[in-house]
Amino acid sequence: MSTTPATARKKVTVHTLRAKKERSEPITMLTAYDYPTALAVDRAGTDVILVGDTLGMVVLGYRDTLAVTMDDMLHHCRAVSRGAERRHLVGDMPFMSYRVSKSETLRNAGRLLQEGRMDAVKLEGGREVATAVEAIVAAGIPVMGHLGLTPQSVNRLGGWKAQGKSAEAARRLLEDALVLENAGCYAIVLEAIPDRVAALVTERLKIPTIGTGAGARCDGQVLVTHDMLGLFDDFTPRFVKRYAELHAQMTRAFRDYVADVTAHRFPAAEHAYAIKEEEFEALLESLKDESVPSGA
Ligand code: KIV
Repeated sequence: MSTTPATARKKVTVHTLRAKKERSEPITMLTAYDYPTALAVDRAGTDVILVGDTLGMVVLGYRDTLAVTMDDMLHHCRAVSRGAERRHLVGDMPFMSYRVSKSETLRNAGRLLQEGRMDAVKLEGGREVATAVEAIVAAGIPVMGHLGLTPQSVNRLGGWKAQGKSAEAARRLLEDALVLENAGCYAIVLEAIPDRVAALVTERLKIPTIGTGAGARCDGQVLVTHDMLGLFDDFTPRFVKRYAELHAQMTRAFRDYVADVTAHRFPAAEHAYAIKEEEFEALLESLKDESVPSGA
């Protein structure tokens, strides 16, 4: 008999998320980039798993997300989909994959579902991506929007800075959110914006908002897993809560291993395979008559 509750086994869909907003039940979302992490995020009962293009920074060591390619995304999407089929899986469309032409946009969005086995795609931007959103949604692919601090525009924004802090910028952000909703987005990530602005956007939209650095009054929350686990410690945005210190723990474990091998403490007898005494004796006996080259 399975010990997993029936609710955790049911596939999370865009309808589940909308219903959660209507019931004022918080939506939970985390990123994952590989199979074991996807399994753990799934087992924890998280609603949505995002294969974010943050993988460029926290997994591949790029300085920003701009270098991430469709091939990078597909590789990691496939691994995650094998570990978490019941969650709602969202794949990020990488930089420039939805800006050049409608046909390229559709092909790339389609590949994330067909080859990456995602349920939906996410793209960054407001009114300037509305046509792309409409085209992808018309092709039957759910689209999650992303407003506020949009990392693919870090060069235009002049760095990793909170957005929507003036009345004018906040109004523009609200307008962009409404444009995305009208274009067919089923949810929007709000990143690094004042909590009161995020609350206002959340109230005005029918679709769920998912905040990261956008305060407590969004319909859901998302964190980058490597940040919240303390696995990526090059820098941590101030809005991240660290739930573990895995980088420090990992470094300690590697140091202990190096020390054990150096001091001949590892491997110990329990880590070795045995050969029966008579087999070993027979081996030694057989070697007496032959000249087996040493080190062969
Ligand atoms: O790429 C990503 O991980 C994201 C989150 C910060 C929402 O877009």
